[in-house]
Amino acid sequence: MKPGFKIAKDTYWVGKIDQREVPFHRLLLTKGTTYNSYLLKTGKPTIIDTVDLEFGREYVEQLAEVIDPLDIQYIVINHTEPDHSGGLAALVSKATKATIVCTELAVSEIQQMYKLQHCNFLVVKDGDQLDIGGKTLLFKETPYLHTAETMITYCIEDKILFPCDIFSTHVAVEHFFADEAGFDIKDDYIGYYQAIIHPHRRYVRTLIEAVKDLEIEMIAPSHGFILRQDVAKYIDLYATLSSETTVGKKATIVYTTIKNNTKKMAHILRDSFLDNNIEVELWDADKAEAADILNSIEAADAVLIGSSTKYADMTGNLESILLQLKTLNLEGKLAVAFGSYGWSGEAIEVVQDYLNGTNMTVQSTSGVIKTTGMTHVEFPIRVRFSPKEEEKTRKIKNAAEFISDLLLSAI
Ligand SMILES: Cc1cc2nc3c(=O)[nH]c(=O)nc-3n(C[C@H](O)[C@H](O)[C@H](O)COP(=O)(O)O)c2cc1C
Ligand SMILES: [Fe+2]
Ligand SMILES: [Fe+2]
Repeated sequence: MKPGFKIAKDTYWVGKIDQREVPFHRLLLTKGTTYNSYLLKTGKPTIIDTVDLEFGREYVEQLAEVIDPLDIQYIVINHTEPDHSGGLAALVSKATKATIVCTELAVSEIQQMYKLQHCNFLVVKDGDQLDIGGKTLLFKETPYLHTAETMITYCIEDKILFPCDIFSTHVAVEHFFADEAGFDIKDDYIGYYQAIIHPHRRYVRTLIEAVKDLEIEMIAPSHGFILRQDVAKYIDLYATLSSETTVGKKATIVYTTIKNNTKKMAHILRDSFLDNNIEVELWDADKAEAADILNSIEAADAVLIGSSTKYADMTGNLESILLQLKTLNLEGKLAVAFGSYGWSGEAIEVVQDYLNGTNMTVQSTSGVIKTTGMTHVEFPIRVRFSPKEEEKTRKIKNAAEFISDLLLSAI
């Protein structure tokens, strides 16, 4: 199928079908994929998202057969990842009158990634509208679906949602519309959700809220099939898949402290878990019986162990408990090290080493980045002295939410 395929009145597919088995997000896209870019041929012609970096030049050549690039007024970039923004540099080199429309966070990413400091940008916020000459676009911010700067675009007159990665499928489509695929696309749709969206499912709830009041007749995502039948069913699938299990999950938090700073961290962790419907048992290792603590650890789904640092080592009675962890079968549990420190925080790393010596799944910043791309969650949780107001969320609550989401995942 060639660029210029009409999907609705004055709305054209101008993307690229990629038949290759491309590696992406540590997956092999065995069915290939599609980079769906859209042209809205209105009074102020507008492009919504582009194609993968590799196909930028080809994209612009093909697009030029559908519209004179000099006529393009706006280029909406819903998401900066280069499988969608990759055609931008090639496009703006020809579409020299175009303004790039994106969120504030996206501006510097686009400028730095493609050296586009000279371009005109229009920063849009949640709920902003843009008149493109005969059609109106409404923008909704959808942070962390799946990166921080993402938004979705809705054409009010045509009732078409352009959600970029969201509601996508990784399939090199032969027919654009899901209802013409000749097979049920549900498995591909769920597979994509699991791989790309599910780690960020907390934010799917924000998305469901954002689209609740929109009358959506068509979803035109940026990978794979366009959805125009049973649209509500596809949205509901995201709501269902992102919902939490009702099974009670437990966290055990154990800490030692000299001046109560690590205790404060432990309490914030506990409160955050309770807010997220996780049961919590909290232990001061220097006050409770070791046997009770070990029983609690064995019954927990997540184990969080914290110590402040005193002369480059752990404080109090913690080591005797850590030494016994190896004798227990703790497989399948999540483990987290945390602690307050003054300047170096060796104890937190020693706890992390002990946890790594068990068969629990120990959380690390590196692991979070590799599995989800998230950069706002850090493990172990390290706080200097008493946690400052901003650190309570950035360091402690974010970590507890991340663990809660792992524990409560329905799939
Ligand atoms: C006797 C003593 C020794 C300390 N040694 C270290 C150290 O070696 N490295 C470090 O990062 N912080 C060190 N600190 C700072 C504490 O870790 C810091 O004050 C921390 O917030 C204490 O947390 P807590 O109230 O949970 O015990 C030391 C503090 C004291 C009182
Ligand atoms: Fe993406
Ligand atoms: Fe993508």
